[in-house]
Amino acid sequence: MKIAITGKGGVGKTTLAAGLAKLFAQDGYQVYAVDADPDISLGTTLGVPEKLLAAQPPLIEMRDLIKERTGAGGGLYILNPQVDDVLDKYAIDLGQIKLLRMGGYKQVGSSCYCPENAFLNAVVNSLLLGKHEVVILDFGAGIEHLTRGTARGVDLMLIVTEPTRVSVDTTRVIRQMARDMEVARIKVVGNKIRSPKEKDFLYRSFSKDEILGCIDFDETLWEKAMLEDPRGLEEVIQKSVKQVFDQVISERGEVTETKG
Ligand SMILES: Nc1ncnc2c1ncn2[C@@H]1O[C@H](COP(=O)(O)OP(=O)(O)O)[C@@H](O)[C@H]1O
Ligand SMILES: [Mg+2]
Repeated sequence: MKIAITGKGGVGKTTLAAGLAKLFAQDGYQVYAVDADPDISLGTTLGVPEKLLAAQPPLIEMRDLIKERTGAGGGLYILNPQVDDVLDKYAIDLGQIKLLRMGGYKQVGSSCYCPENAFLNAVVNSLLLGKHEVVILDFGAGIEHLTRGTARGVDLMLIVTEPTRVSVDTTRVIRQMARDMEVARIKVVGNKIRSPKEKDFLYRSFSKDEILGCIDFDETLWEKAMLEDPRGLEEVIQKSVKQVFDQVISERGEVTETKG
């Protein structure tokens, strides 16, 4: 199952991605955690030591590799480069979790076309899965850089939202984009909920079916924003995300059924 996580900057995408990755891993799944959010890295949030992260630069920075595979030069390049070996060669092996540092997609206006993005999309497409494998894609704020083919390969898109008007509006924009790209399932996850009033606000903003679950505001996680090194909060993150994880598992059953 491929799960893509998106939403406005700072809403908690990486926190959710890290929590889900850990919980799936604990449940015996092989997890491919793909970091494509240019902000605080998924690796750091997963508690991976800096030395290990530094040894494997993000794919987007591997210019020679991208050039070699896409044949980029003179404005022409291959749209679906061969990348079958990339995962094995460049993923950081954390045992049950393999972390692929992709780096953020390039912002290229309204077009998703450039060699770098073609390369990253090909990598996402190359992750084809067995029954006990799951891919968690931590995307940045938008999904406009995905091709339709890549978007169609996503089984479940989670749009993280805070209980604010701005975040809800962004969520609706992303939801529309995802629908246009024919993403199979699109669900909203509320985060940083401090009161029943805030939860009500989200349930008034989206239909009940659409909301997969809500994550409460957590003081320890919030204070993490002040820390130089935010490692060591993996357990708190897992606890916060557990309910949403259970919902994802039940969605998983439905996805497997519909896909056969
Ligand atoms: N449920 C929560 N309660 C309090 N703080 C949270 C919660 N979820 C995330 N945060 C904090 O919000 C900040 C942004 O989270 P992050 O996951 O990096 O967002 P994004 O990846 O969407 O930019 C981090 O400092 C994180 O610790
Ligand atoms: Mg992030």
